[in-house]
Amino acid sequence: MNTQSRGFEAVFGRALEGQAAAPGRVNLLGEHTDYQGGFVLPTAIPQHTTVTVARNGTGRHRVYAADLDRQAGFAVLGADMAELPEFARYVAGALTLGGAREGLDVHVHSDVPMGAGLSSSAALEVAVLRALRGLGVYGGDDVALALAAQRVEHEFVGVLCGVMDQMASSLADAQHMLLLDTRSLDRRVLPLPAGAEVLVVDSGVPRTLAGSGYNTRRAEVEEAARLLGVPELRDVQDVAAVEELPPPLRARARHVVTENARVLQAVEADAAAFGALMNASHRSLRDDYEVSHPQVDALVAALQALPDVFGARMTGAGFGGALVALVRTGTAASAGKAAIQAVGGQGQVVVPAQT
Ligand code: GLA
Repeated sequence: MNTQSRGFEAVFGRALEGQAAAPGRVNLLGEHTDYQGGFVLPTAIPQHTTVTVARNGTGRHRVYAADLDRQAGFAVLGADMAELPEFARYVAGALTLGGAREGLDVHVHSDVPMGAGLSSSAALEVAVLRALRGLGVYGGDDVALALAAQRVEHEFVGVLCGVMDQMASSLADAQHMLLLDTRSLDRRVLPLPAGAEVLVVDSGVPRTLAGSGYNTRRAEVEEAARLLGVPELRDVQDVAAVEELPPPLRARARHVVTENARVLQAVEADAAAFGALMNASHRSLRDDYEVSHPQVDALVAALQALPDVFGARMTGAGFGGALVALVRTGTAASAGKAAIQAVGGQGQVVVPAQT
């Protein structure tokens, strides 16, 4: 019996029926493009969320979050989201959209850092849906599952996110990059640039997506697309027209259009060129999209100054949270340590995972 099953039985007093896991993700390039039909390039991180389940024979679901040591219960039919703690909303949404019609006991354990922009919420949604699939309750394939997980954010949590995080958690692995066209959902699994590995540092600056400017940015770029007369900024052909937009829409649209171009360039890039694209992405997110944070900027600059670092940038929605770097193979842990030291000890290496 593993730790997870002991946890489950201790909490619910019954044997588990199924277990599933899903990873967090880090986005290497293509930030704030996925709600404008653009391109993204995430990879899975080794940290993941594990969900253990069993039917409980009642009309209520019970959820226990081991890392928070908190429990919540709600009716199978018609849970009131406003009354649920946030962690339970993700689970309630996934159980509802995953078609759970009988009460389930759900045990959640995760080592994906929460609120760091590494998709702990997508990992939770995908893991719950996978657990339902394991029970024969949910029948969708990996793409349908990712889309259902995205609907959880929209309909149950109130975050109008794109599809990148859920697609990455459902389809990516930690050894490859997932090149995803977020409009068609066409995708390619690519190797990392030769001679390079991924470093992820959590700046420790807390952020919550729902409370952040995420939905504001989304509204701004939708307005920019409307003014430019295109369905989405993905469709912008006339780059000069972007410069005619009023502020701040001009800068917001410039970020999205140039970021899409960077992802497409990165597909053919070697490590050095890929790194340069990451550096350019950071500048664009900091100056044009204005979603970075001074502490994140300081860590990014410290990383960019190191000889073994090809490039570094903030990652995820921004407003604090994690940053990602592409570094020479074998140097990630030491580069992360050196950068954290350079900014006075603020921050923590997430990838490579600490053992
Ligand atoms: C969050 C969202 C994603 C994406 C990123 C920014 O992670 O969930 O859909 O928009 O921000 O690239």
